[in-house]
Amino acid sequence: MLQLRLSKEARPLKGEHFPAPEGATRVRKFNVYRWDPDGGSNPRIDTYELDLDDCGPMVLDAIIKIKNEVDATLTFRRSCREGICGSCAMNIDGTNTLACTKPIEDISGDVVINPLPHMPVVKDLVPDLNQFYRQYASIKPWLRNDDEPSDGRERRQSPAEREQLDGLYECILCACCSTACPSYWWNGDKYLGPAILLQSYRWLADSRDADAEDRLSQFEDAYSLYRCHTILNCTATCPKGLNPAKAIAETKKMMLARKGR
Ligand code: SF4
Ligand code: SF4
Ligand code: FES
Repeated sequence: MLQLRLSKEARPLKGEHFPAPEGATRVRKFNVYRWDPDGGSNPRIDTYELDLDDCGPMVLDAIIKIKNEVDATLTFRRSCREGICGSCAMNIDGTNTLACTKPIEDISGDVVINPLPHMPVVKDLVPDLNQFYRQYASIKPWLRNDDEPSDGRERRQSPAEREQLDGLYECILCACCSTACPSYWWNGDKYLGPAILLQSYRWLADSRDADAEDRLSQFEDAYSLYRCHTILNCTATCPKGLNPAKAIAETKKMMLARKGR
C-alpha cells in the first residue's frame, strides 16, 4: 500500500526554544527544521525569537543572525545574498523560494522554514542535490556546434534570435521548481523535472546550437520529459518569475515536429 505519512522516525518533534533578547521591541518567531544525520534522533523544529528592529529585512538575514548570535549549529547554504546563486533555496511559509529575496514582512505570523521538500536532507536546511546535478550534467548543458564560426571569431545572433533566450538564461538552478513538482516527487529518479528541462530548452532554443536532434533523442522514453502533467506548480513557485512549464510545452512541440519529419 502507498505510504503517504512520514515514518515515525522522520516526524519532526518540538525542539528547543530560544527566547527574544531582553528589551526586544518587535518580536517574531522563526520555527526552523533541524536534523542532524549523526545525532540518531528525529528531526525537530526549533523556535527562535528575534527582534525585527535589530535584524535585516529578508528571511536570510534572520537565519544568518540566528547562526551568528543565537545558535551556531544551524546549517544552511547561501552565497550571493542577492538572488543570483540559487543556493539559499528553501521552503518558507509553505512555498519554495530564495531566503535572500523573501522579505520577512511578507509573512504573517510565525515564519516557518523547512528544507526544499521531497529531497534527502544532508543537515538542517541543506538538501542533497546530487541527483539534480547529475540530471543537469546528463543534458550536456553547453553550446554544441562543431562548425567553425563563419568569420573565425564569434557565433552571431540576430536580436530576434537572442530574444528567444529571454526567460531561459535567467534560470539560476535553485531547484525551487523541481522540488515543488509532484511528478518529480514521485519519479525524480527518471523524470528530469522542470529546472533541468528548462535548461535543456535553453539550448534547444539557441540559434547557435547544432545538436537539437541529439538533445531531443534523450526524451524518447516515457519518463524524462513526458512525466510533466502540466500541473504548473513549477511556474507558480519560481522565484525568478520564469515559466518552466512553457519550456516543457515547447520541447514537447519540438518532439512532435520531429516525429512528423
Ligand atoms: S526555473 Fe526558476 S525555480 Fe526553477 S531552477 Fe530555474 S530559477 Fe529556480
Ligand atoms: S507543469 Fe510539469 S514540471 Fe511543472 S509542476 Fe507540473 S508536472 Fe511538474
Ligand atoms: S544567497 Fe544566492 S540566491 Fe540567495
